[in-house]
Amino acid sequence: MWPYPKVIAHRGGGTLSPENTLAAMQCGLDYGFAAVEFDVMLSKDGIPVLMHDPEFGRTIHGIGSVAATTAADLAIMDAGAWFSDKFIGERVPSYEEVVRFCRQHGIWMNVEIKPVPGFEEETGRVVAAMTAALFADVSVTDLSHLPLFSSFEFPALMAAKHAAPNIPRGFLMNEVTPEWRAQMQELAACALHTNHRHLTPEVAREIKDAGYGLFCYTVNTPERAKEILSWGVDAFCTDRLDLIPADF
Ligand code: G3P
Ligand code: MG
Repeated sequence: MWPYPKVIAHRGGGTLSPENTLAAMQCGLDYGFAAVEFDVMLSKDGIPVLMHDPEFGRTIHGIGSVAATTAADLAIMDAGAWFSDKFIGERVPSYEEVVRFCRQHGIWMNVEIKPVPGFEEETGRVVAAMTAALFADVSVTDLSHLPLFSSFEFPALMAAKHAAPNIPRGFLMNEVTPEWRAQMQELAACALHTNHRHLTPEVAREIKDAGYGLFCYTVNTPERAKEILSWGVDAFCTDRLDLIPADF
């Protein structure tokens, strides 16, 4: 039911390195993590890149947006200086680069499709088609070697389903809505991903009894991790690779 690792490094290296960069993936590896979550968005020219915020200002200095910037221009932008001087020069990686890095190092991926508003379907379609091509050599039954898509955006996941039906999908919900069963069925999703802060043991049980995988974000203390695991949660991502080991 959950063929994936239990503890997943959020945005690559959690809060220990600049999120959604190759340095973050390396940080996860250095802490012994072989499972990662990261965010994927389309550039102006429709190339999937790793990025969380649609607007610049937090991880990328200056004013501007991902949707108005080409992948070539994004690729030379600094995505590490905001974090610390040690990471000055760290770039915005393309999704393809990160998949190649992760596959080379045996890192399993939860690919969060994070569309810029208005580009939900296009982002789902493009990311899914590229993923299908990058994993064409993996059998569709070999789930632990295929990535798991997730998204808060239902239309993005529907588009991913159409473009790459054999890449599994998890539906992300900040709070589990009353419509969750119908939505999961329509997506043919295998897992529900939700904010641990709003989850209750009762809702966790309902999701597990319905036969779905259950994933929580973002759990940063061992005590809370133990608690939600005792409710039947299958896996969670964490920012604190230093506090919660990969073999927790
Ligand atoms: O995929 C889980 C988590 O990453 C969702 O929230 O905002 O960190 O992408 P966010
Ligand atoms: Mg994310």
